[in-house]
Amino acid sequence: MAQLRAFESAQKKGHEIPEIVCYEKQDDWGGQWNFTWRNGTDKYGEPVHSSMYRNLWSNGPKEGLEFAEYSFDEHFGRPISSYPPREALWDYIDGRVRKSDVKKYVKFAHAVRWVDFDETTSTFTVHVQNLRSGETESEEFDHVIVASGHFTFPNVPDFQGMDTFPGQIIHAHEFRGAESLADKDVLLIGASYSAEDIGTQAYKMGARTVTFSYRSAPMGYDWPEGMEEQPLVEKFDGATAHFSNGLKRKFDAVVLCTGYIHHYPFLPSDLALNSPNNLYPDNLYRGVVWEKNNQMFYLGAQDQWFTFNMFDAQAWYVRDLILGERELPAKEEQRKNIDAWLERFDTLRNVDEQVDFQADYVRDLIQETDYPMFDLDTVAEIFKRWVGTKREDILNYRDVTYTSVITGTKAAQHHTPWMLELDDSLERYLSTPEPDEVRDIFEGREPVKRR
Ligand SMILES: Cc1cc2nc3c(=O)[nH]c(=O)nc-3n(C[C@H](O)[C@H](O)[C@H](O)COP(=O)(O)OP(=O)(O)OC[C@H]3O[C@@H](n4cnc5c(N)ncnc54)[C@H](O)[C@@H]3O)c2cc1C
Ligand SMILES: NC(=O)c1ccc[n+]([C@@H]2O[C@H](COP(=O)([O-])OP(=O)(O)OC[C@H]3O[C@@H](n4cnc5c(N)ncnc54)[C@H](OP(=O)(O)O)[C@@H]3O)[C@@H](O)[C@H]2O)c1
Repeated sequence: MAQLRAFESAQKKGHEIPEIVCYEKQDDWGGQWNFTWRNGTDKYGEPVHSSMYRNLWSNGPKEGLEFAEYSFDEHFGRPISSYPPREALWDYIDGRVRKSDVKKYVKFAHAVRWVDFDETTSTFTVHVQNLRSGETESEEFDHVIVASGHFTFPNVPDFQGMDTFPGQIIHAHEFRGAESLADKDVLLIGASYSAEDIGTQAYKMGARTVTFSYRSAPMGYDWPEGMEEQPLVEKFDGATAHFSNGLKRKFDAVVLCTGYIHHYPFLPSDLALNSPNNLYPDNLYRGVVWEKNNQMFYLGAQDQWFTFNMFDAQAWYVRDLILGERELPAKEEQRKNIDAWLERFDTLRNVDEQVDFQADYVRDLIQETDYPMFDLDTVAEIFKRWVGTKREDILNYRDVTYTSVITGTKAAQHHTPWMLELDDSLERYLSTPEPDEVRDIFEGREPVKRR
C-alpha cells in the first residue's frame, strides 16, 4: 500500500510512472491488519497470512507510526486515543489509499508462486496463480518489490513430551482470541511482544494463571498476582511442564510465542532474504535494495519500532530509484554502506540505542526523497516513553496518551480503560458510551447505579 501510494504521489506531481502490477493473495489489502478467524489454510487452501487476533489493539502508540502525509486527524476528523484497536488501524491505512485510485493496480486473490531472473535480458518472470479461477499466468517485469511481510511463518520449537500434552498447543500465529482461556492455567513460551500481549489478553479474559517461559532473559515487568515468569521449559510430562529451575507445574494450554521466520517460498535462494528478525538484515543496501540484484527490493524486512512511516520512507526511496530520480552507488560503495550500519547495529546495547538506530535509518531514507520529514527525535522519545510506561504498569500502559508530531494534537483518552474494554470494534471505539459501575470501581469511585 505504501509503494502504490508512493507512485501515485509522484504521478500527481507530474512524473510519468511505469506500469505497475501488485499481486495480493488475499481478497483484500491490509496484510496483517486484515483479520481472519481462519487458521492453517484459507478458503483457497493457501497458508493463512495474518497472525492477528480478535482482541488485538496496537501495542505501540499510534503517534509512532502515523503517516507524515496522512494524519490520524485527517482520517478520523477528531482526536482518538493513542492505542487504537486493530479495526481502527486497518481503517486508517485503508483510508489513505481508499480515496486514491490505486486499487486498480492490485490483482487480489493472486498468489505469487515463483520468480525467475534472466541475466541476458535483465528481466524477471513472475509466475502467479489466480486463486479464484485456478489459472496460472506469467508476466515479465524490470523490477520486483517484495512486500510479503515476515511475521507469518511461525518458528516452532519442539519440547520433549509435547506430543502427549493433553491440552491445546498452538503458536501465536494461530491464536485468534483469549476468551477460551478463561479459568485456564496458561503457559506462554517466549519473552517478546507476542508473549507479553497474548499473556495480558489471557489475564484480561479471566485466565486462572499466566506463566511465561523465557529462553534468554525474562521480560521483567511488574506482573500482577497470577502472572509470573519462569526460565525455559525442559520437557513436558503429560500436562506438567518441567522448568530448568526445577519447578513443575500443570497447564491447560500452551501458546508458543517463539517468533517468526523470514520465508519466501516464491523466491530462488539467490533472491531470497535469509535473516534472523533484526533491525538490520544483511544484504540490503539502505535496508531495501537487494545487494545481489539491484533490480529487486524488499520493504519492511526489518524488525520494527517504526512501522507505517518507515514503510513509506522505504517505498518513496524505492520509487525514486525506479523512476531514475536517484542513482545507486557502485556495488563496493553499497557494501561499505551496509557494513557501516551493521557495525553500528552490533554495538546496540539497549532499547534507547535501538530506537535511535531505526530513527536514524528512517531519517537517512527520507532525506533522499520528497516524503515529508517529521520530527523523528520526538517520535524516538515517544517510543522510549512507551517502554517506560510498560515498565510502570504493563496492564494499563494503553491508557496513556501522546501528542502527534504531525499535527500537534494530543490524543484523546479512550472512553473505557483498556483492561475493562471487551469490545474491540471500530463502532464501539468511536462511540461515546455512558460511564458505568464497573468503570467507577476501576477508577476508585463509589459505584453509582445509573438505571
Ligand atoms: C500479531 C502482530 C501484531 C502486530 N501489531 C502491530 C502494531 O500494533 N503496531 C504496528 O505498527 N505494527 C504491528 N505489527 C507489525 C506488522 O508487521 C506491520 O504493522 C505491518 O502489517 C507489516 O506490513 P507488511 O506490508 O510489511 O507485511 P504484511 O502486513 O504481513 O503484508 C504482507 C502481504 O503480502 C501478501 N502476500 C504474502 N505472500 C504472498 C504471495 N506469495 N503472493 C501474493 N501475496 C502475498 C499477504 O497476503 C499480505 O497481504 C504486528 C505484527 C503482528 C504479526
Ligand atoms: N499489537 C500487538 O499487540 C502485538 C502483539 C503480538 C505481536 N506483535 C508484533 O508481532 C511481531 C513479532 O513479535 P513476536 O513476539 O511474535 O516475535 P519476536 O519479537 O521475534 O520474539 C520471539 C521470541 O521467541 C523467543 N524464542 C524463539 N525461539 C525460542 C525457543 N526455541 N525457545 C524459547 N523461546 C524462543 C525469543 O527468545 P530469545 O530472546 O531467547 O531469542 C523471543 O522472546 C512484532 O513486530 C510485534 O510488535 C504485536
